[in-house]
Amino acid sequence: MDDNRLLADEHGIPWHQPKDISHFRHYTQGKWLLVGRRTFGEMQGWFTDHTPLILSSQCGYTPAIGRVVASVPQAMAQAEAAEQNELVCCGGGQVYAAALPYADKLVLTRIQHQFVTSSKAIYFPNWNHEEWLEIDRREIPMDEVNPWPMSFVTLERKNFGGESRIESKL
Ligand SMILES: NC(=O)c1ccc[n+]([C@@H]2O[C@H](COP(=O)([O-])OP(=O)(O)OC[C@H]3O[C@@H](n4cnc5c(N)ncnc54)[C@H](OP(=O)(O)O)[C@@H]3O)[C@@H](O)[C@H]2O)c1
Repeated sequence: MDDNRLLADEHGIPWHQPKDISHFRHYTQGKWLLVGRRTFGEMQGWFTDHTPLILSSQCGYTPAIGRVVASVPQAMAQAEAAEQNELVCCGGGQVYAAALPYADKLVLTRIQHQFVTSSKAIYFPNWNHEEWLEIDRREIPMDEVNPWPMSFVTLERKNFGGESRIESKL
């Protein structure tokens, strides 16, 4: 997201940062991902080593790969049944908003720029900073192929007991 929590506009994500893509691939490798039906449509070819759970309200929707789920709790139940200890929500805006109340960890890329927005802009939901503790931060300077400086930031929800509460693992 950018400095205003912008995720995308009508043309998609307005930045291309190869180091962020590597960070995403490294963090999510082999994991189960929860994605919205719209984001899934844009990510064809990305899921070679992921299991995507696609959030949709459509009964007859049959994606070529992955499984359709009708709610975030249903996705968490499926991940738990498959003995996954983490389910990674990968957006977009609607699905981040639906998943945030269940999340116990936020792995964020903060692009240090304010992109010009339009009426079709999509944002990451605001979160209550009082409820989250920053546990890791890496500053990534701009370079020849990554035009914006960015921060990789990890937050953990405070008061999370650390018990096997799989339903909170997003
Ligand atoms: N910057 C980033 O890191 C980032 C990450 C991911 C995506 N994006 C961008 O975000 C944009 C897409 O975001 P978006 O918010 O428009 O769409 P989205 O969240 O990817 O998908 C929305 C769809 O998910 C389903 N859905 C959402 N909430 C649901 C719920 N509570 N229950 C059941 N189904 C639900 C609905 O599908 P049905 O219509 O089938 O019911 C809805 O139309 C794209 O432009 C993408 O490029 C950016």
